[in-house]
Amino acid sequence: MQILGVDIGGSGIKGAIVDTVTGELVSGRHRIQTPQPATPEAVAAVLAELVLHFDWTGLVGCGFPAAIQHGVARTAANISQLFIGTPIDKLFSEATKCPCFCLNDADAAGLAEMQFGEGVDQSGVVLLITIGTGLGSVFFTDGKLLPNTELGHLYLKNGKKAEHYASDAVRDAEGLSWKSWGNRFNSYLTMMEVLFWPDLIILGGGASKKFDKFKGQITVKAPVKPAAFLNQAGIVGAALYARSKKT
Ligand code: BGC
Repeated sequence: MQILGVDIGGSGIKGAIVDTVTGELVSGRHRIQTPQPATPEAVAAVLAELVLHFDWTGLVGCGFPAAIQHGVARTAANISQLFIGTPIDKLFSEATKCPCFCLNDADAAGLAEMQFGEGVDQSGVVLLITIGTGLGSVFFTDGKLLPNTELGHLYLKNGKKAEHYASDAVRDAEGLSWKSWGNRFNSYLTMMEVLFWPDLIILGGGASKKFDKFKGQITVKAPVKPAAFLNQAGIVGAALYARSKKT
């Protein structure tokens, strides 16, 4: 079954048509800049533009950078605060005239990795962290998703919120070398390990493509692997989620 998977992020809104049986992209990826301010109406309009680009009329799955409960956004860190309480499944479905199903973006990336990527057949506790504008998190225990964990908002020992200290956007904004950013990110992973003791840590989001540049800084005991889908895990997982809602 083919589904349009979309990853809505703080800086870009990216989509592609996904074959949900194989997890492969069956179209090119199309990216549109996230509108600023990223209000519900502005984001819905860009999503409609993306749907039009693919001439799409079927199901749409959207990874969204917030806690999503039953189709309603509950938080808003790197998007407009106006999203809080917005029924985004409904808003996006109306704007695109396609049935849209939204979930947290890190949860989406996790679904793709567990089904087709580094998490296949992995039992125990898997933690996936997405490194982008913010830090996203998702846990699986014996393959079962724990949604909306929001662990990029934990405070580190230095008193800073993790995603304000160790996200890819911070690395970029502060012009940090991969080594010095890698040390920051390692302090975050160390905290995750001390609190949750994952058996495997998978890294997604933009920075996962650059794993080779910072893997030398990582000292946690759990194996750490870049997502097999790298930055595309969110698109694939969003499509998988829409399929699960429809069947
Ligand atoms: C949001 C999360 C999201 C993460 C990655 C955080 O700011 O609160 O919901 O998963 O960014 O986009």
